[in-house]
Amino acid sequence: MSAHRTIGVLGAGEVGQAVADKAIRHGHEVLIGNSRGPETLEALVDRLGPKARAVTAEEAAKPELVFLSVPFFAVPELTRLTTWSGKIVVDTTNQFAAASPYRGRYDVGDLTGSEWVAGHLPGARVVKALNTLYAPFIAADPRHAEGRLVAFYAGDDADAKAAVGRLAGRIRIRRPGPWQSA
Ligand SMILES: NC(=O)c1ccc[n+]([C@@H]2O[C@H](COP(=O)([O-])OP(=O)(O)OC[C@H]3O[C@@H](n4cnc5c(N)ncnc54)[C@H](OP(=O)(O)O)[C@@H]3O)[C@@H](O)[C@H]2O)c1
Repeated sequence: MSAHRTIGVLGAGEVGQAVADKAIRHGHEVLIGNSRGPETLEALVDRLGPKARAVTAEEAAKPELVFLSVPFFAVPELTRLTTWSGKIVVDTTNQFAAASPYRGRYDVGDLTGSEWVAGHLPGARVVKALNTLYAPFIAADPRHAEGRLVAFYAGDDADAKAAVGRLAGRIRIRRPGPWQSA
């Protein structure tokens, strides 16, 4: 495996867990963090295995490639976590105003959701990806009888987009683990 051996995952909900699992199964190390602290993620990292580390949100934001899998409205809370400049941020968020269940549209004026996210992460190279997929589809085997799952991604930085495309392309079958039946 080449670049981005260690991946940060901000948000340990349905999407963060699916992304972490995929990355780990492909040989990456994952630093995963939420808002409540690493002690709340012990059971999760046990299931994910030794390549997963539960960390603070600050530590999860440190790697050069970070998945953003928090509620959209929580993004402003991430600004001060790290120096975002130059990092690749894979933005999986959808523009909902409230959680549990996600509902309503968060008003960002004339901006796109990703422009608004990028505005809160100064200098980050934001690539929008995976937000169109239901989390269980991200977690599942991407290969179907009909062909492979299609994951769309978009962004302004060509190198960042290429890196995310390579990462997505490397993701292969998700073998069932014991935690799936829990
Ligand atoms: N679920 C889906 O099918 C799906 C599909 C595509 C895209 N999305 C989008 O992906 C994002 C995540 O969705 P989800 O369903 O995984 O959400 P979720 O299950 O509600 O999990 C959200 C995670 O974000 C964490 N979080 C919240 N505020 C934070 C902060 N300030 N710093 C660090 N972590 C924080 C939460 O931690 P705590 O619990 O500790 O607060 C939690 O681990 C959302 O924007 C959603 O719209 C969801």
